[in-house]
Amino acid sequence: MSHTRHLFVCTKQKSGIGAEVARALKKELKRQGLAKQVVDGEKLRTQVQTCDCLDLCKQCKKGHGAALIVYPEGTVYGNVRPDDAAELVAQHLGLGKVVKHLCIDK
Ligand code: FES
Repeated sequence: MSHTRHLFVCTKQKSGIGAEVARALKKELKRQGLAKQVVDGEKLRTQVQTCDCLDLCKQCKKGHGAALIVYPEGTVYGNVRPDDAAELVAQHLGLGKVVKHLCIDK
């Protein structure tokens, strides 16, 4: 059986940083070879998708980055910048560890 995990990245900020974050995440997924994984014998695909406002605007408009949600886990990250992509991909998607300094409680 195969599953798909989604990273929904808000691109509603005026700065356009969400689109940059999404690009950086896609690049890191490819570079780290984590776009397709086998976890517990099952295929897991990860897709990065841009989306409109996630209703986490403090993390987009007052900070300097973008909000994103990892689905189906439901982990919410805020003020994510393109430079955070490598750590987020390696830690959360590669090792299954939440990146605490970017994680926010809704
Ligand atoms: S503008 Fe990004 S969550 Fe609302």
